[in-house]
Amino acid sequence: MVKFTNVVKTYGEHVAVKNLNLEIPEGELVVLIGPSGCGKTTTLKMVNRLIEPTSGDIFIRDRNVMELNPVALRREIGYVIQQIGLFPNMTIEQNIDVVPRLLGWPAEKRKRRVYELLEMVGMEPDIYASRYPTELSGGQQQRIGVLRALAVEPPLILMDEPFGALDPIARETLQDELKSLQARLNKTTIFVTHDMDEALKLADRVVVMNQGQVVQVATPEELLRKPANDFVASFIGKNRLNGEALQSVEQIMLLNPVTVSPQLGLAEGLALMKRRKVDTVLVVDEDRKLLGGVAVEILDREHKRAKTIGEIVTQESPLPTINRRASAKEAFDMMVGEKLKYLPVIDENNALVGLVTRNSMVDALASAVWGDEGE
Ligand SMILES: Nc1ncnc2c1ncn2[C@@H]1O[C@H](COP(=O)(O)OP(=O)(O)O)[C@@H](O)[C@H]1O
Ligand SMILES: [Mg+2]
Repeated sequence: MVKFTNVVKTYGEHVAVKNLNLEIPEGELVVLIGPSGCGKTTTLKMVNRLIEPTSGDIFIRDRNVMELNPVALRREIGYVIQQIGLFPNMTIEQNIDVVPRLLGWPAEKRKRRVYELLEMVGMEPDIYASRYPTELSGGQQQRIGVLRALAVEPPLILMDEPFGALDPIARETLQDELKSLQARLNKTTIFVTHDMDEALKLADRVVVMNQGQVVQVATPEELLRKPANDFVASFIGKNRLNGEALQSVEQIMLLNPVTVSPQLGLAEGLALMKRRKVDTVLVVDEDRKLLGGVAVEILDREHKRAKTIGEIVTQESPLPTINRRASAKEAFDMMVGEKLKYLPVIDENNALVGLVTRNSMVDALASAVWGDEGE
């Protein structure tokens, strides 16, 4: 979906981005992380041409961004920044509606879209549509910024420390929301942060940058288990996963299992599984509540009879799950005792937080026994 080839950005003598090569597949949420000044914002802004590269190319769906009209380009890319900049003298509805109006959507369709978006994040449209930004909390304003970016369903969304200015509780809420939106909408997203917890929570893949260069590209699990060098290790922070602390199931689980919504069509489900190279997907609703799991064989078998994943997931017998507070040992015993291939990890509200697989368990045990050194 997005491809950087040998991208360089210099300011005079200063090299902000050094020879960046990166490919982001359709539907992936990639997090760029690194210390202040490492080139994250520059990288992001080169995608929607707020900054032009000194050399190298950036492609969006095989189109070179430098050959596209920048205004048209920006309209098809959602952009969310920290200082969200809602228009103070416009209502929430008008704020969300900015781009649809620019694109000349009919009034009725625009209104429907605004209401649908507000409902999606649990903000009652009849209450909030007519309010002004100053009547909203910081977290609510930022949420409107996210909705505004989603309004015309852009295929690509860029987010630059969107939750950086929020208090920890609002930040966590918006992270959870983004994650559940992402599970449903499957939008290609490039998300910038300097907060490792945020990166690990949200990312399909994390791109660690330092001094204008990519240091490591890895899934959250790989990053925790095998930091590429000392810089990454110290950036992750110590004691996240080490031998003596291998106690809770949270430490051995995968953080981003492949999930689908029950509304997803079977063909799309099959395509997603192929793309992500998995043979089972977990089905979750808007609140990330776990509805069940569907294996690729079932999808294949049922694809003539059923239309959506929701129709076939309920036929499966209830899935064994484990609570996030359980110990790693309990997970191990369940996997072995019940001969499970995988074990979803849920929180108190039955929402999916991770997945233990045979591989994730073996990896965690191996690094606990032998450490990550010299692998
Ligand atoms: N307009 C500019 N002129 C000169 N240097 C700049 C400019 N914009 C950014 N830089 C420099 O480029 C580097 C990368 O900046 P930036 O991409 O904003 O970093 P990050 O978002 O990771 O904090 C920094 O050293 C910054 O000082
Ligand atoms: Mg920045």
